[in-house]
Amino acid sequence: MTAKKKSPRVLVLHGPNLNLLGTRETDVYGTTTLDSIVARLRVLGDELGVVVDSFQSNSEGDLVSAIQKARDGCQAILINPAAYTHTSIAIRDALLAFPGPIVEVHLSNIHRREEFRRRSLVADVAVGQITGFGPESYVLGLRALASLLGTQ
Ligand code: DQA
Repeated sequence: MTAKKKSPRVLVLHGPNLNLLGTRETDVYGTTTLDSIVARLRVLGDELGVVVDSFQSNSEGDLVSAIQKARDGCQAILINPAAYTHTSIAIRDALLAFPGPIVEVHLSNIHRREEFRRRSLVADVAVGQITGFGPESYVLGLRALASLLGTQ
């Protein structure tokens, strides 16, 4: 009898103000809520053979703690650090200590916006960055991680 392999877990992390998706600057971020993005990722995760865990926080320290905790039990991270993308050395350092693949995603194209959004402190820690496709950025990011994890 062959033992059934456990599906890898992907932690999907959402930074500050993403809890307001659906009502926040809808001209930039659209009308899809965070709950519906996560629901879609869970369904896709089932198809791709990965388990999706999700966590949103407006607090930098809570995001750092979630990344540290992910070292124990999660094999990959999909992260939209939101405004912390451009400022947080603490989140960058926590990600550097994570052994698995990381993909950075953004709803808007951060390179087409204000100058200060063009710099990401996470980009070179991640395998890649997907930016500008709205909620589809998350879908593409999860597909990329499933492929990196070899569940595809
Ligand atoms: C964002 C882009 C960031 O510059 C901004 O601070 C966000 C959302 C995006 O998904 O497009 O809050 O990460």
